[in-house]
Amino acid sequence: MALAVVIALLVAFLTPLAVYLVRRSTRTSPPPPPRNLPPGSLGLPLIGQSLSLLRAMRRNTAERWLQDRIARYGPVSKLSLFGAPTVFVAGPAANKVVFLSEALAPKQPRSLATIIGRRNMLELVGDDHRRVRGALMQFLRPEMLRRYVGKIDGEVRRHLVVMWAGRSAVTVLPLMKLLTFDIIATLLFGLARGAVREQLAAAFTDMLEGLWSVPLDLPFTAFRRSLRASARARRLLAATVREKKANLEQGKSSPTDDLISYLVSLRDDDDGDGDGGQPLLTEEEIIDNSIVSLTAGHDTSAILMTFMVRHLADDPATLAAMETLRMVPPVFGSFRRALEDVELDGGGYVIPKGWQVFWAPCVTHMDPAIYHDPAKFDPSRFDTQAAATSAPPYSFVAFGGGPRICPGMELARVETLVTMHYLVRHFRWRLCCGEKENTVVRDPLPSPVLLKPTSTQ
Ligand code: HEM
Repeated sequence: MALAVVIALLVAFLTPLAVYLVRRSTRTSPPPPPRNLPPGSLGLPLIGQSLSLLRAMRRNTAERWLQDRIARYGPVSKLSLFGAPTVFVAGPAANKVVFLSEALAPKQPRSLATIIGRRNMLELVGDDHRRVRGALMQFLRPEMLRRYVGKIDGEVRRHLVVMWAGRSAVTVLPLMKLLTFDIIATLLFGLARGAVREQLAAAFTDMLEGLWSVPLDLPFTAFRRSLRASARARRLLAATVREKKANLEQGKSSPTDDLISYLVSLRDDDDGDGDGGQPLLTEEEIIDNSIVSLTAGHDTSAILMTFMVRHLADDPATLAAMETLRMVPPVFGSFRRALEDVELDGGGYVIPKGWQVFWAPCVTHMDPAIYHDPAKFDPSRFDTQAAATSAPPYSFVAFGGGPRICPGMELARVETLVTMHYLVRHFRWRLCCGEKENTVVRDPLPSPVLLKPTSTQ
């Protein structure tokens, strides 16, 4: 296992190093340095600060790592991450530029696009992104989701009876992942409990293993296993799409039964009656975006609920999703790439064309100038109207912002509230390990290693 990691890291860094050396040897003159670069250092060629950040993530000191940077260089600084020159940005003003600038396109690791599919929303830009995202949002909007509260409620109740009731101790995170998978399988894919759902769950678990791996399709690599699992998940979803199509054509189902039926029924004739024009989304787009919804929506919500349970252990009456998201945003950060030079307000720094931008919600969320006593778990800070209006825009960014703000926000809200409602009503619990064992690892999502509340129903 350790050897595999070392090999993966070596390959990750040596491949781009070789490309870099070849490019360097063939270049006639170095490119002119761009103007007004942010402070900081790019570190060693290619390696830059990647290993140091990855180490901090494993030790759960990544927030401190970023805060140290800010103390040293201010909220905007340059560094080198994963082989590319990068500008790290923090704070509401810079967040706004990241979310709203059309010159900053999303950038995902290559492994992600290959495994999830090239037509997934994270890879799309411009009109394609608006069309596909718009289709998904029609289904995930609050008025639509209200119809499905009963389905979510059924999944949560069943889960608690089967997985929690009568146990003296439970490990929360894996159970929450099972629950969020079940909710998505029912609500988005319309898959009843049974063989197909189990096969999809197994394929999906294997697929996630290699999502962040070095994209080398070689025997015995996590990436190859993940690619194969992705192909299995795709075959299952393709069969599901065809079945939903046939059911709709034969009048055996309704477009609002689940997300896949909904997407299959959308047409590009714009009048909303679904009986003319061409399909709005291709089959590939429906499959890729089903996979991205499952990937983006399953761990994130499970982490939110797990950390809520952890805090509720100290304060059983609190339903505090916003405060939990502020203190432990499940998404540590993400990248954009600059399509042209982008100027940042304040300091007049430039993000040069071709560089990547790294934004991370945790540092904005822990800024004492925005959130008083930020290390204190205090849900009341989101209670009052005054608190909601006094924080500057783009200072609560657990779901991102702008045209790419998380489309699953409302679904996450509903499933969290339903789950917490039943947990609080039917269980009391306490953490069953000491502070020392009860640590958290960000890899890249936060995961409590040993969080074992005891249920005493
Ligand atoms: C607590 C739960 C969740 C959190 C904290 C969360 C967080 C985020 C964040 C920060 C982004 C923006 C990333 C960026 O701008 O680079 C995002 C995007 C996205 N999320 Fe979520 N998410 C959650 C739940 C969900 C759920 C339940 C779904 C399922 C539908 C989902 C689907 C997506 C998709 C498809 C995108 C890409 C949007 C685009 O590129 O236009 N998320 N999420």
